[in-house]
Amino acid sequence: MLVLNIFVALFCAVLADASRSQPKRPAFYKDSKHIIELNPSTFSDVVYGSNYTTIVEFYAPWCGYCQQLKPEYEKAAKPGHHYAQFAAVNCDEEQNKQFCQSQRIEGFPTLLTYRPPKTFLDSTPRSQQYAVQTYENERTSSGIVRAMKGMVKSYSKKLSLLKLPKFLSSVDSNSLPKVLMITDKAQNSPMYKVLAVDFKGSLEFFHLTINNDSEKVLVRDSIPEIAESFEVPSLVVVSPTDGVIAYEGEMKKTPVAEFLTRFGVPVEGDFSERNEIIQGIKKGIYKSFKDYKKKAKKAKKENLEKDEL
Ligand SMILES: *[C@@H]1O[C@H](CO)[C@@H](O)[C@H](O)[C@H]1NC(C)=O
Ligand SMILES: *[C@@H]1O[C@H](CO)[C@@H](O)[C@H](O)[C@H]1NC(C)=O
Repeated sequence: MLVLNIFVALFCAVLADASRSQPKRPAFYKDSKHIIELNPSTFSDVVYGSNYTTIVEFYAPWCGYCQQLKPEYEKAAKPGHHYAQFAAVNCDEEQNKQFCQSQRIEGFPTLLTYRPPKTFLDSTPRSQQYAVQTYENERTSSGIVRAMKGMVKSYSKKLSLLKLPKFLSSVDSNSLPKVLMITDKAQNSPMYKVLAVDFKGSLEFFHLTINNDSEKVLVRDSIPEIAESFEVPSLVVVSPTDGVIAYEGEMKKTPVAEFLTRFGVPVEGDFSERNEIIQGIKKGIYKSFKDYKKKAKKAKKENLEKDEL
């Protein structure tokens, strides 16, 4: 094993040398819709500012295995970005070289996952609380997506059928709207877990498992708002102001998230300000989160001045 490691290290060192005489190549993922190229001024905010797991590919554009992985990684990010952040760092770029070293990158491509803890400690820097692991499963799009689905944090609480009536009636004006997923699966779905991450702090998430038809009848009888012919999975919101509202659209992340924006403000995901900033960084409009804040502040000030004129 040691011999192999030494060999790999030499191999990469040789390649790194070879790269010096080659013309500079552009970043791989500039135009990939769901993969963000990171550098030292964006890495922390994107990775350590999220309750999503982030997968990061450390690569060099000249490396053959990286070129092989690129289409698979892009294919993985397409469905995968619903469950995890997909990122990449070009270790061939001058500004990233030291950072790649600090992450102990020894060969290209290296895929690392940064997984947030279930709860954060105030006493420790956030960056030290993420579990960093090398992704060593299959480097195929399906393998990567499967692994990322398995790393979604779960904030949803399990509800028992017995407690359903109380659950439905115990919302008052001081409580957050509650979201309930009714499913026939023993495990909570990654899609639902991710919604709980997106709406953390403004909605509370619960899930209820139905085991057979008689339990289904019990649920239907307890919730008059759901259709007579309701199918599992079904989703309802118990709102302090509007009562029980059943979701009637497709059971996919984006339309469900859009529906939930009627009841809460997402901190992450499709409809969040954070997502706008990340998209802005991807497009080169902002250099970093800090840059975004500066520009937003300036725009606000200019608008105020315009109003005064
Ligand atoms: C992530 O969760 C923590 C609490 O566990 C919360 O303080 C923080 O605001 C969340 N971050 C985001 C970006 O939603
Ligand atoms: C339905 O499932 C529940 C929980 O497993 C069980 O207690 C109950 O007896 C089942 N009912 C029928 C009719 O199978």
